[in-house]
Amino acid sequence: MCGIVGYTGSKEAFTVLIDGLKKLEYRGYDSAGIALQNDGRLEVAKAAGSIADLERKTRGKFEPVTVGIGHTRWATHGRPTDDNAHPHISCCENFAVVHNGIIENHLALRARLRDEESHRFRSQTDTEVLAHLIEEYYDGDLLLAVRQAVSRVEGSYAMVALSAKEPGRLVCARKDSPLVIGLGEGENFVASDIPALLAHTRKTYILEDGEFASLTPAGVVVTDARGARIDKQLFEVKWDAVAAEKGGYAHFMLKEIMEQPVAVRETLRQRIDAAAGKVTLDELAFTPDEIRNLEKIYIVACGTAYHAGLVGKFAIEKLVGLPVEVDLASEYRYREPLLQKGKHLVIVISQSGETADTLAAMRLSRESGVKVLAVTNVVGSSVSREADQVLFTWAGPEVAVASTKAYLTQLIALYLIALYLGDIRGAVAPALAAELVRGLRALPDQLGLVLAAERLEELRAYAARLARWEDAFFLGRNLDYAVAMEGSLKLKEISYIHAEAYAAGELKHGTLALITEGIPVIALATQQAVLEKTLSNVQEVNARGGSVFAVTQEGHREVARQVDAIFYLPPVHDLLAPVLTAVPLQLIAYYAAAARNCSVDKPRNLAKSVTVE
Ligand code: G6P
Repeated sequence: MCGIVGYTGSKEAFTVLIDGLKKLEYRGYDSAGIALQNDGRLEVAKAAGSIADLERKTRGKFEPVTVGIGHTRWATHGRPTDDNAHPHISCCENFAVVHNGIIENHLALRARLRDEESHRFRSQTDTEVLAHLIEEYYDGDLLLAVRQAVSRVEGSYAMVALSAKEPGRLVCARKDSPLVIGLGEGENFVASDIPALLAHTRKTYILEDGEFASLTPAGVVVTDARGARIDKQLFEVKWDAVAAEKGGYAHFMLKEIMEQPVAVRETLRQRIDAAAGKVTLDELAFTPDEIRNLEKIYIVACGTAYHAGLVGKFAIEKLVGLPVEVDLASEYRYREPLLQKGKHLVIVISQSGETADTLAAMRLSRESGVKVLAVTNVVGSSVSREADQVLFTWAGPEVAVASTKAYLTQLIALYLIALYLGDIRGAVAPALAAELVRGLRALPDQLGLVLAAERLEELRAYAARLARWEDAFFLGRNLDYAVAMEGSLKLKEISYIHAEAYAAGELKHGTLALITEGIPVIALATQQAVLEKTLSNVQEVNARGGSVFAVTQEGHREVARQVDAIFYLPPVHDLLAPVLTAVPLQLIAYYAAAARNCSVDKPRNLAKSVTVE
């Protein structure tokens, strides 16, 4: 999520680090910082805001030293402030750390370090515990100390450590978060992403989970957790700078679609008690009475987030047993909703946390005394600051205008909320809760199956045919209808193919008049309870010559006989199916738009964040 750059060599480290961080700016961040090794001391500069701000404040203030680490932070634990920016230093100021990922047990580690070892903490971040742990374990060898420190840590990390006492040395480690070593002549680099390296070298080692690297100007040694040396294969980067920003993918949208297994895993992290088969949302501070007194829930959002809300309605009504109204924020704010303090809860969903209509809807709700729970992807955003409670999605920065990984993590957040509220209200049977918890935990791997290369080819082939049409229809019932609306939005916003989503049962009330020979119809048929009904609507389309592409779960073989093409999803609980169903629709939209040479990442007339009404 965040950006890391480290350098050891003979050039001025300040410039190498700042230039490297700038190459990672496209990813989004809210603060930046560097630490330099200078003659037995560490010098640190960090600030909320842009890299240019940091550069302006600090250029010329440091001696021209040649070793350092830098970081751009996308806030997760702790707001985007100067103190929370990386690098983080230990009490003795001899160790500095930059880190991407989430340290799950940071609160326990922090408490022990503070209470038993008298460490003083300067930030609210999870990362800072790493600096203190390294200080704790340091006995003359930074690699050894890093190894011991990360052995205490649960969660994900790509981290680089710098010691004041070991001239020219950087030590890094990775688990579940990317880290790349750049090999130079008399200099070496480390970065979270290849674009930061390209100005210097194309020779790299890609670190794998559980690997450690020690860098000096003279060389790089990669070892495993026990210290055994690993012979790394050289990876020669062939991408140009633009392709490198997209991780080698043609577009950010495809990169972000492919990141979804990780985004979902991160959003679930620390929020599930697998043994108890329960959801544990410690970050929410509702009292049990506040939850028990609720009589109704509103979900309010715009665009893709609204579509996530439509899925949320099903999950909450089923698991919490309360009626849910889902509103477009632009409608809600002008329709005088009948809000009742204490009896109603408003859930707002916004990837950016800055959408003008969503913000206005939230303010209006709060003015009536109703509590607002926000689901957002951006720590420090207006929505996150003004809501009564926040549940963050951990999708990481989303660059493409068309939302993909943010949507999927919004679905996850809503399932978590539904299970959490349902548990407190005693509305969800423990067996069902446990089954859904198991289902949620299986989703990242199942997404991986849906995103396998041969599955992408199936979708690309279908999209190539679809791309020749100017109209398309999406059909589904219940949860499939909610996902159909998102699939239709994806297709129209990036491929400019006119697309409409219909509740399958509504076909006869108008849309059927538009079904002509060959017209593409994408039918979602993942929901067992309405499968027969949906299939009879498919027959209505077939009878008029429409060409049906179906998305269904493995096992629903009867669907194949009635459609022109089919895409099978791994078997999934019907309630959770939207998380998988949405993915082929994203990819169909993506491949159709690419086939039509559309500006996939920046569709005409659209913006990522709509901060005006
Ligand atoms: C814009 C974006 C959409 C997004 C919508 C709501 O239209 O292009 O991708 O779904 O705004 O944005 P939010 O940040 O509030 O989720």
